[in-house]
Amino acid sequence: MEVIIKSSYEEMSKTSAQIIAREIKKKHDLVLGLATGDTPLGTYKELVRLHKEEGLDFSKVKTFNLDEYIGLDPLDKNSYNHFMWENLFKHVNINSENVYVPQGNTDDPEEFCSWYEKKIEETGGIDLQILGIGGDGHIAFNEPGSSFASRTRVKALVKQTIEDNSRFFDTEEDVPRFAITMGVGSILDAKKIILIANGKNKAAVCAEFIEGPITSQITASALQLHTLATVVLDDEASSKLKRKEYYNWVRDNKQTVQKRIGR
Ligand code: PGA
Repeated sequence: MEVIIKSSYEEMSKTSAQIIAREIKKKHDLVLGLATGDTPLGTYKELVRLHKEEGLDFSKVKTFNLDEYIGLDPLDKNSYNHFMWENLFKHVNINSENVYVPQGNTDDPEEFCSWYEKKIEETGGIDLQILGIGGDGHIAFNEPGSSFASRTRVKALVKQTIEDNSRFFDTEEDVPRFAITMGVGSILDAKKIILIANGKNKAAVCAEFIEGPITSQITASALQLHTLATVVLDDEASSKLKRKEYYNWVRDNKQTVQKRIGR
C-alpha cells in the first residue's frame, strides 16, 4: 500500500483528483468507482475545476457508485444518487447513461444486486475505485464482520454508522437501517484503488487498517491484499501512524528511484 500524506484537506483532495484525472487522460472510457460522504467532496470539487478550466473530459467515463440506502427514492435529498448529481455529475460532461448508482427503492434488492455485479463485469470491471473510510473501518457499507469475499448485497448498518450519518438527516430515526453495498470482494476486483481520509477522528482507524492486522473487523484492512492500493491522508488522519517517516521518504524519493531504474 502506498501511503501519501498531505498537509491539509485541500492538498489531499487535489492529490486524489490528480490521480483520477491522470487515469481519465490515459483511458478516456475509464470505469470509475465512486464514493459519497464528506471526504470526497473536495476531490469532486477539484475534478469539476479540472473539467471547467482544463477541459478534463468525462464524456466516455463510466461510473459505478459503491452504495445506496434502501428505501430512499433516487431523487430524495439524502440519497447517494442525489449527492452524486449535486456534487459531481451535473457539473461535468458525463453521459447520464454511463452513470450507475445502486437503486435504493428497488422492489427486488437481491435481483438488483446481481444485475449490478453483472453490469460492472460487462464494462470490463472497475479501473479505479475511490473509497472513504467509516469511523468503524468500513469501506462502502461493508460493516465490521463483512466477508472479504462479499459481493454487492444488502447490508444492515451498525449503530456507529447510523449515528455518524444522522448528521445528514432530520433525526437519527430517519437514517435507513439497510443499504445496498458493493462487497469487499467486488472492491478488491478493481484494478486500482485510492482510499482518502482526513481529520483527527479518522487517525486511529487509519493506523489500524494501514499498520494493523488484516481483519474483517476493519474491512478497509482488506486493502493490504491489493497490489495497487494508494491511501491519501491529510496530516491529522496520519497522526497515529508509526511508519510516517518511511512513507514520506518513499514519497520524496520515488521519482528519483523510478528514474534510476528507467520507469
Ligand atoms: P465520511 O464517510 O466521508 O462522511 O467521513 C466515510 C464513510 O462512511 O465511508
